[in-house]
Amino acid sequence: MAIDYIERIPNNVHLSENRRLQRALEEWQPKFIDWWKEMGPEGFQMRDVYLRTAVSVDAKGWAQFGYVKMPDYRWGIFLAEPEADRRIAFGDHKGEKAWQEVPGEYRGVLRRLIVTQGDTEPASVEQQRLLGQTCPSLYDLRNLFQVNVEEGRHLWAMVYLLDAYFGRDGREEAEALLQRRSGDQDKPRILGAFNEKTPDWLSFFMFTYFTDRDGKYQLASLAESGFDPLSRTCRFMLTEEAHHMFVGETGIGRIIQRTCELMREHGTEDVARHGGIPLQLLQKYLNFHFSVSLDLFGSELSTNAANYYTMGLKGRFEETRKDDDHRLVDAVYPVWEADADRLRQIEAPALTALNERLRDDYIADCAKGVLRWNRVIEKAGIDFALKLPHRAFHRAIGNFADIRVTPEGQIISQAEWDRRHREWLPDERDHAFIASLMRPVTEPGKFAGWIAPPARGINNQPVDFQYVRQA
Ligand SMILES: [Fe+2]
Ligand SMILES: [Fe+2]
Repeated sequence: MAIDYIERIPNNVHLSENRRLQRALEEWQPKFIDWWKEMGPEGFQMRDVYLRTAVSVDAKGWAQFGYVKMPDYRWGIFLAEPEADRRIAFGDHKGEKAWQEVPGEYRGVLRRLIVTQGDTEPASVEQQRLLGQTCPSLYDLRNLFQVNVEEGRHLWAMVYLLDAYFGRDGREEAEALLQRRSGDQDKPRILGAFNEKTPDWLSFFMFTYFTDRDGKYQLASLAESGFDPLSRTCRFMLTEEAHHMFVGETGIGRIIQRTCELMREHGTEDVARHGGIPLQLLQKYLNFHFSVSLDLFGSELSTNAANYYTMGLKGRFEETRKDDDHRLVDAVYPVWEADADRLRQIEAPALTALNERLRDDYIADCAKGVLRWNRVIEKAGIDFALKLPHRAFHRAIGNFADIRVTPEGQIISQAEWDRRHREWLPDERDHAFIASLMRPVTEPGKFAGWIAPPARGINNQPVDFQYVRQA
C-alpha cells in the first residue's frame, strides 16, 4: 500500500477521505512540531541528517534514505496491511471478527492502553535530547536521531488511534501527550523508567537494548489485539523498533570490543585509566537498565493484565503461534515470589500471571544479546562474562519491591544492601567517570576512544560517511 506523500500528513489510511480526522490531526501537527523543537535533540535541529523515512509498509523497500532537517521529517501514519478476515485470537471473543471500531464497553480500558504506550514515545525523545552534544561519532549521532524521529512517529501512530477512534476524549489525550515531560515533578511521564535520566551514551545504548526491547514486547502483545487498527499500527511500529534494539546491541558490543582491545594492549583490567569502560562497570549499568526495564512489565499477578486478555485487547507474545486454548481460564503459570528468606516459584492462574509471562519472554530475549556480547569477550581471550541479574534484583514494582536481593538472587537485609549496592549499581563516581568520557567526536570516520567503529555503515554507506552535516 503506497504512502501518500503529497498530503500534509503522509499516510496510508486515506486520511483525505475523512475530513474530521484530517482536521484534528492537522491541528495537532503544529503543536507536535513545537514540542519537537522544544524537547527534541538540542542543538541539531538545523543540521542535515542522513535519515530513513518510511515510504511503504511492504517488508522490502519500506524505507528511503536521504538528508533531512529533523523538524522537516515526514512524520506520518503508517499501518501494516490489513489481514483478510482477521479473527480475534484469544479471550472471551476468540473466533469473532476483529473489531474495526472500538467496542463500547472496552473504550476506557483501550484508551488507557494506547495512552500508556503513546506516552513512552515522546518520553524517550525527551530523555535523550542532550546526547547529541557528546556523540562518540557522526555515525552514532545519526543513529540517535533516527531513533528519536521514529519515536516521534510512534507518538503519531498512537495519536492517530486516539483521534480516529476516541472522539473528544482522544483529542484531549493527544494534547496531554505533548504536555507531560520526562522527569518533571508536576507532570511526569506515566511509567517510571521513562522518567529516569539518559545522561550519557552508555545509558543510551543500554536503554535502547533493554528499554526499547520492553517496547518490542508491549507492541508485540498489542499487535495481537482484537482491535484491528491497533494491531496494524503496532505491527508496523515493530519493524522500526528493531533498529532501535540494533543500535543498543551493537553499541554495547562495540564498547565491549574496545574495552577488550584496551585490556590486551595495556595488560590490565583497569582500562579506565586508558579511556575505556571497564567490564565491571558495564555490568553495573546492565544491572540498572535491566532491572528498571523489568518493572515496566508490571506486577507478577495482575487482574488488569487478565482483563486485557479476556477482553481480547492485549494478547501474549506470539499469541497465534501458541498451541493451547487461548482462553487460559483453567491454566496455570509459574511465578516467582519471596517466601520469608528465599525466592521460590509458585503456580499461579495463567490469566493473572500474564505480565510475568511476557517478562519471561523478554528476559529470554535479553539473554541472547548478552551471549553475543560474551562471545566478543571470549574471542579476545578474556575470562569474564556479563550476566543478567536475577529478576528480583533492584525492583520497584511487584513481588520484590519491598525486599533487597543480590544480583544472584539471594535475599539480604537493608543494612547489607546499603553496604554493598555500589558493587552492583553505578554510583555517583561511576556516573562522573562515564560523564568524563563523553566528549563529542564529529570528524567523519573518527570514534571516541571508548567505543570501536561499527562493522559497516548505514544503508551501504561507508563508516566515514558524513552522516550529519551542516546544512
Ligand atoms: Fe517507540
Ligand atoms: Fe524504540
